[in-house]
Amino acid sequence: MNKKELGLRIKTLRKGKGLSQKELATLMGYKDVSTITKIETGINDITTENLYKLADILSISVFDILDKIDEIKPIYPNLKFHTFCYIKSVVTNPNIIVGDYSYYEDIDEGPESFEKHVTHHYDFMGDKLIIGKFCSIARGVEFVMNGANHMLDSLTAYPFEIIDEFKGLSKPFGQRGNRGDTIVGNDVWIGQNATILPGVHIGDGAIIGANAVVSKDIPPYSIAVGNPIEVKKYRFNKETIDLLLKLKWWDKDIEVIKEIIPYISDNNIETSIKYIKERFKL
Ligand SMILES: CC(C)(COP(=O)(O)OP(=O)(O)OC[C@H]1O[C@@H](n2cnc3c(N)ncnc32)[C@H](O)[C@@H]1OP(=O)(O)O)[C@@H](O)C(=O)NCCC(=O)NCCS
Repeated sequence: MNKKELGLRIKTLRKGKGLSQKELATLMGYKDVSTITKIETGINDITTENLYKLADILSISVFDILDKIDEIKPIYPNLKFHTFCYIKSVVTNPNIIVGDYSYYEDIDEGPESFEKHVTHHYDFMGDKLIIGKFCSIARGVEFVMNGANHMLDSLTAYPFEIIDEFKGLSKPFGQRGNRGDTIVGNDVWIGQNATILPGVHIGDGAIIGANAVVSKDIPPYSIAVGNPIEVKKYRFNKETIDLLLKLKWWDKDIEVIKEIIPYISDNNIETSIKYIKERFKL
C-alpha cells in the first residue's frame, strides 16, 4: 500500500469534511494530534480497524477512500473478512490470467493460497489458466493443468523422462497430449472442492456444483454437477441467456455496473430483463 498517497487522500477528505487535524484526532480517539499528521504524510500506517472508523466519521465507505488510489489494490474484497480475496491481487504466475473482482474463498489455508490450487502448471507446457471477471471460486477447488497428463496412448503411462536414470530415452514431456488453455468465463460460480481438468472451457454465467469433476466444456448459464459431470439444467430460458451473453454486464464501465447491480442481483427476473432491454436498447 502506498502510504503517502493514502495519507494525502485522507487529508483531502478530512479538509472536505471541514475537520481540523485536532478534531479528527479526537473523533478517532488518538491522544496525540501528531498521529494524524504522521498518517497524512505517510509516516504512519493506518490500521484496517481505524480505516473503518475513519470511513464512518467521514460518512463514506472504505472503498471510497481506497478506490481513488491506483497503487492501492485491495487484496480483500471485504476488509473485515480475510477469508476471501481478489485472485488477481495474489497470483504471481504470468500464465494465470484473472479478471477483476473474481475471488477465491478459503478459510482453512487462507485465500492467498489460490496459486497452490493450480497444479502441474509448468512453464515448458505453456498452457494458461484464464479466468474472467466476477467469478466466485470456493475453497478446495483444484485446477489441474496439462503437466498432469501422463502419456496414455503409449504402451506405458510411466513418465520415464523425469526419472534421472532413464532420461533421454522417452519423448520430451512437452510432446505429450496438451489440451490447451483452461478457460473460465465471467460470472462463473465454482462450488467447493470441484476439480477442473486441463483444457476445459466453462462458459459465462455457469455454475459448477460442489465436488464436481469438470472433464468437458460446460455451456454458458448452465448448472453442471457430479462426476462424470452432467449439465442438470440451465439457469434461464434461451432468450434470457442470449440477452445476457449480448449484454456482457461484466465488461461495462464500473459506474454502469453499479447502476445495474440492483437489477442483476434481484430475483424478480421479469422486471430486471425489462429494465436491461430498455436501458441498453437490446
Ligand atoms: C450446484 C448447486 C448450486 C445446485 O443447486 P440447485 O439448482 O438448487 O440444485 P438442486 O438442489 O435443485 O439439485 C438439482 C439436481 O442436481 C443434484 N445436485 C445438486 N448439487 C449437486 C452436487 N454438488 N453434486 C452432485 N449432484 C448435485 C441434485 O441431487 C439434483 O439431482 P436430481 O435432479 O437428480 O434430483 C448446488 O447443489 C451446489 O453444489 N452448490 C455449491 C455450494 C458450494 O460449494 N458453495 C461454496 C461456498 S461459495
